[in-house]
Amino acid sequence: MTEGNEKKTLLDFKGMDFTSLSLEDRIAFSVAQGVSETGMQPDELIAMNDALSMLEPNPTILELGQCTGTSTRFLLTYVLSHSGTLHSIEQNLRRDFFDAMVDLGLWDKFTTYVNNTQTIHWQGGIDFLLIDTEHTIADALGEYCRFRGFLNKHAIIGFHDAWEIPGVRRAIEIVQEIDEIKEIARSPRGVGFGIRLFKLMEKNKGCYHQRPESIEEM
Ligand SMILES: C[S@@+](CC[C@H](N)C(=O)[O-])C[C@H]1O[C@@H](n2cnc3c(N)ncnc32)[C@H](O)[C@@H]1O
Repeated sequence: MTEGNEKKTLLDFKGMDFTSLSLEDRIAFSVAQGVSETGMQPDELIAMNDALSMLEPNPTILELGQCTGTSTRFLLTYVLSHSGTLHSIEQNLRRDFFDAMVDLGLWDKFTTYVNNTQTIHWQGGIDFLLIDTEHTIADALGEYCRFRGFLNKHAIIGFHDAWEIPGVRRAIEIVQEIDEIKEIARSPRGVGFGIRLFKLMEKNKGCYHQRPESIEEM
């Protein structure tokens, strides 16, 4: 969407009314220069926006993996222009992102937990869970299972790196075996590592017990 255009810097957004940015400006703000790393691509943010637009008002959003905040800025501008609360867990807070957000007056508009997703104490329901830390099955599947008990009815779960990273792809397959999830948005293949977003239809697909006498020796 913004490809080919000159990228803005975070400073260009200073003094802006973040409660009324257009989708195009939200994307430009999210991918703006001025921090050391880039995260999601514009087409991935558009897919995420399609899923966000399906949420009921006042959602609780939890992001796992902040880095320099491409997805954080996109999710934050969603809650500021709609409604809701944004929480973000990151074990290695990036100073440049922190400084830029303080400068823009945005750091106190969401909550960052400098912590490990696997061991943090969590409480409270989640309507939108973005899984975007590391890429092994243990990370993506582990984080789904870690926060699954907090997912509200019809919560939306986004898996970043969903197309090109085998660990995340396999994690999604296993989640599909655990719970009934329906894909509601996805970024085109070939753009970044890809994002796929699912709505939780039902927890626990079924629990089948084998009779003890039919269990083979292992
Ligand atoms: C791919 S980056 C996140 C990108 C970000 N969502 C964006 O769009 O800019 C992954 C981040 O997850 C963090 N991370 C990895 N494992 C983690 C864990 N177990 N707990 C918390 N953060 C973790 C890393 O420090 C890194 O900053």
